[in-house]
Amino acid sequence: MKTAEIKRRWLEFFERKGHTVVPSAPLISQDPTLMFVVAGMVPFIPYMTGVLPAPYSRATSVQKCVRTLDIDEVGKTTRHGTFFQMNGNFSFGDYFKEEAIAYAWELLTGKLEDGGLGFDPERLWVTVYQDDDEAIDYWLKNSSVPRERIQKRGMKDNYWSTGQRGPAGPCSEIYFDRGPEYGVEGGPEADEDRYIEIWNLVFMQYERADGGTKDHYEILGELPKKNIDTGMGLERVAFLLQGVENIYEIDQVRPLIDVAAELSGKRYGANEQDDVKMRVVADHIRSALMLMSDGVTPSNEGRGYILRRLLRRSIRALRLIGVSEPSFERLFTTSKNAMVEAYPELEESFPRVLRSALAEEAGFRRTLEAGTVVLEDAISNAKGTLGGDIAFLLHDTYGFPIDLTQEIAEENGLSVDREEFNRLMTEQKQRAKEDAKSKKVGAAGLQVYSEFRQKGETQFLGYESLSAEGRVLGLIRDGEVTQSLREGELGELFIDKTSLYAESGGQAADAGIIRGDGFELEVLDVQKPVKGLFSHKVRVLNGEVTTGTIAETLVDANWRLGACQAHSATHVVHAALRQVLGPEALQSGSFNKPGYMRLDFAWGEALSESAKSEIEEVSNLAIRSDLAVSAQFMTLPEAKEWGAIALFGETYDESVRVVQVGGPWSRELCGGTHVSRSSQIGLVSISNESSVGSGARRIEAFVGIDALRNLTRERDLVKRLAASVKAPAAELESKIADALEELRQANRKIAELEAAQALAKLPALLASAQEIAGLRVLSAKLENTNSESLRNLATAARDQLGGKAVVILGAEFESRPTVMVACGQQAIEQGIKAGELAKAASAELGGGGGGKADLAQGGGTDAGKLDAAIAIAAGLIR
Ligand code: ALA
Repeated sequence: MKTAEIKRRWLEFFERKGHTVVPSAPLISQDPTLMFVVAGMVPFIPYMTGVLPAPYSRATSVQKCVRTLDIDEVGKTTRHGTFFQMNGNFSFGDYFKEEAIAYAWELLTGKLEDGGLGFDPERLWVTVYQDDDEAIDYWLKNSSVPRERIQKRGMKDNYWSTGQRGPAGPCSEIYFDRGPEYGVEGGPEADEDRYIEIWNLVFMQYERADGGTKDHYEILGELPKKNIDTGMGLERVAFLLQGVENIYEIDQVRPLIDVAAELSGKRYGANEQDDVKMRVVADHIRSALMLMSDGVTPSNEGRGYILRRLLRRSIRALRLIGVSEPSFERLFTTSKNAMVEAYPELEESFPRVLRSALAEEAGFRRTLEAGTVVLEDAISNAKGTLGGDIAFLLHDTYGFPIDLTQEIAEENGLSVDREEFNRLMTEQKQRAKEDAKSKKVGAAGLQVYSEFRQKGETQFLGYESLSAEGRVLGLIRDGEVTQSLREGELGELFIDKTSLYAESGGQAADAGIIRGDGFELEVLDVQKPVKGLFSHKVRVLNGEVTTGTIAETLVDANWRLGACQAHSATHVVHAALRQVLGPEALQSGSFNKPGYMRLDFAWGEALSESAKSEIEEVSNLAIRSDLAVSAQFMTLPEAKEWGAIALFGETYDESVRVVQVGGPWSRELCGGTHVSRSSQIGLVSISNESSVGSGARRIEAFVGIDALRNLTRERDLVKRLAASVKAPAAELESKIADALEELRQANRKIAELEAAQALAKLPALLASAQEIAGLRVLSAKLENTNSESLRNLATAARDQLGGKAVVILGAEFESRPTVMVACGQQAIEQGIKAGELAKAASAELGGGGGGKADLAQGGGTDAGKLDAAIAIAAGLIR
């Protein structure tokens, strides 16, 4: 049964049981404490904790998930995948334990013709939490599982939570027995490889605390309602129903293994080591495809880093099975073809994904080459062990996984100082952690915010008005809820109505004040720590603000005008970009504040000067055309019908806001504030265009009066330059070009003089030539001569001395030693090779060298050994 078919049967079954089918959320988690969606229930957490009212009492989904905690297990076991799909059915205060168990049994063992999955009931086992006798009773009542195939297990195995404060509860797991050829008898307690877990039913009823261990943590109390959360591993069920050996061989993944095998010329199944690498490639490429399709781009931090790691690990695994040519194009296309039945949207995002993947592949290949030079150099200097600092540098700067460094070092008979490497890694992680801590949403924990959020959604009145009156719902000081804030104190304020815009959709938070009877507060920042809740970071300018009081939020009008100009300018530039470059130049991120905007977009190469000018011109023509800017609410399907641009990776509500500039010219889903006519933007002036990771570019611009000021600054610079070269501005270009040309000629003349000076030493040198073994040997050390002069001298001396000449010249220049060797034709015929002499001399200097038989160069680091190096080369002639 194909994986897409299992998914279909799942959703249809639960739909028949009254569940709302919810499409998979993007992999990028909306929860700021999680990087990716790691379980099917993640998008539903706010409904389980009661932070938001659940819009349905029963739901079902097949959720895309990414977990990279066990990345080292990938390919080695039957069941570890970094990307996987979790089928789930959920109840929010509706049905509980008994129905959850009955549904699971019905679907698993139901006949194929009735829409079931057709598992043999004799091969299913069940585990329950040790104290949960109730679950055992329900299993005996609602299934044909005998008591002997129900096992009790402890908290570590049968109590589920996300590992942090939030919903938790005992669970019951269903296992499939693969048969005696896979391990010992005795159920899941005895062997989890023979007995494969396929479905976990969580009876979510408690709230747990942070901290503790996997089998011991504090339970804070009951959830407002009893919920059901279940997760069936789609890949696991697929591999069992498809009769293959592991999750990497199912229809959605196996084609990648086949391509990896073909490219490497190896047969899958012939050698376990190679098989593991092919499975790693298959797993990682699929995960990367799905992440990139959801808008993640490779970078050096956060989600982008995880993606980069997956891509690099697959290139590395490919190299280890002997594939060194670029292969992402084939692999990504293969993976897309295997996944597109289940995810039709992949077709649309694929050109963008592929462009980014190819750029990353090319970049990493260059990095590998550069790193290999560094590594080889370090290897040639190392004695016994390669320093941990070199391994760290390679890891940090060149992206060399430590096992790669280690393997290459071992091939050269060296070990790696792992202790030093680990120490440097720990230090770096510590730095990253402190960095992340200082960047956290707010000082207060998520729980405190959830409590305020439960009092209702903050009403934003700032689209219509710059001021709003509301009631202060709460205050936080130093992360703790407080009743009041006094003069000089900093804190966070929550209010039921606000006119202050919270940073979102790329737009910076409003500046302004909040005031009321006897107090005035400066607004330092406005954020939405949880959806629907505005947190105002404030400093008390005077008086005291208390919970419950009436307050007025006031936006700084000048600031807001600048913010509207900058945000509308961002839409205008985005539309201009797509008009000039084509519709695939899609925005992947943006930021704007008064006077400034930047926009990141999917594009593989630097923009030409003419493309930049054209984008700027199209933008300013749109501004001059005085286009109407308007915003309206509609449903998501309506917005899509309209062609409004939604950003990938965002989750949108039922009702969305569409902002248009000039009607269909620019339509985007957007919650920001805007001018009402494009002419109010004034002016856009592009200041910079640069790369932000592979396949992504950034365009930056000044907006409004700041654009004018920037142009003025540049005009003044031109004036000052013109004054300094004493020419009118119009002649500046030719004047500078002339000056540069003069400089070039002067440099050339100096080089010629230096060469002539060096050649003047020739007669004295020739006089010192000696007869050795019938050859005319000249060996000498010169002072302060660069390698080019040295070469000229060596060849000139050789030509003067004739066919039997062997010339060995050494010199130190800018504290680096160089040796130049030149041989005449007869000397070569007698077996003297310039390359060999240069190599011998370089070895003494602590470096490498080589060249042809008639002319060769060498060098090193130890100039003090120059005399010895020349003597060694000369000694070889005898
Ligand atoms: N949330 C549960 C799990 O991940 C179903 O196993």
